[in-house]
Amino acid sequence: MYSRDDIHCEYPSYLTSTVVQWVSPMSLDTAEHMEEDEDTSKSIPKWVELEYMHMRSLAGPGAHVHFTHLSQSSCPSLSSLFDRGTPTESSESAQASSHQVSVMELMKANDIPLIKVCLLDPKAEKELSPEDGDGRFSWFLFGGILGDDPPRDRTSELRALGFPTRHLGPVQMTTDTALGVTKIVVQDKVSLSKIPFIDYPNIVFNAKESVEMPFRYIANGNEPILPAGMREHLYDDLNQSFQF
Ligand SMILES: C[S@@+](CC[C@H](N)C(=O)[O-])C[C@H]1O[C@@H](n2cnc3c(N)ncnc32)[C@H](O)[C@@H]1O
Repeated sequence: MYSRDDIHCEYPSYLTSTVVQWVSPMSLDTAEHMEEDEDTSKSIPKWVELEYMHMRSLAGPGAHVHFTHLSQSSCPSLSSLFDRGTPTESSESAQASSHQVSVMELMKANDIPLIKVCLLDPKAEKELSPEDGDGRFSWFLFGGILGDDPPRDRTSELRALGFPTRHLGPVQMTTDTALGVTKIVVQDKVSLSKIPFIDYPNIVFNAKESVEMPFRYIANGNEPILPAGMREHLYDDLNQSFQF
């Protein structure tokens, strides 16, 4: 059995951001990569790829997900990852674009004022509500990919820019979960209190090996909804960390 601390060691916190726009009847979400890549020769880590692909599928067709502030090396590798999506995936997933520019530059290029971008922020005063999907916001913005445990409030870097903010409850979600919950609230018009969640799930691999994830997830019965391939990736990673 492994703890949250093990996960914390294995998964560096990449402070990133994503913008999503739901095109019809509403459009766009964005996620911005806010942290410098540790090694610019490396492409995006596997778990980040899995979360990004999950964001596309959770945002759904009719949405456009923008990943911003990517490094010179990760930007093209992410684009080719999106291009490799299967035809089924493309028809069921949001369009996705990767950018080296920051979210502020992307807003300027699209003529989107600050007031029309909603930052999902655990420290916001107001909870996200179905009415927030009625056109008052053009884009929904998410920061920081996998979180810190305990959270280090790195969303504050985006908050400092002055966006209107909304929270999704007091517990830190993974970024893909936060995006999926936002879609359910603003597009499907389901209020936050009606969405089933599971906190800090224990992912069990076998009788001896399991790992506790330090986040809130959308629940499917008693199981958390994880990105496709994440369970296998966690298991591989767990085994690698014990190879000396
Ligand atoms: C995995 S969280 C990382 C948060 C980071 N560790 C921090 O302390 O600010 C990534 C992003 O998901 C969104 N998010 C996660 N949980 C949230 C919540 N409970 N309410 C609002 N937004 C949330 C925020 O946009 C946040 O920047």
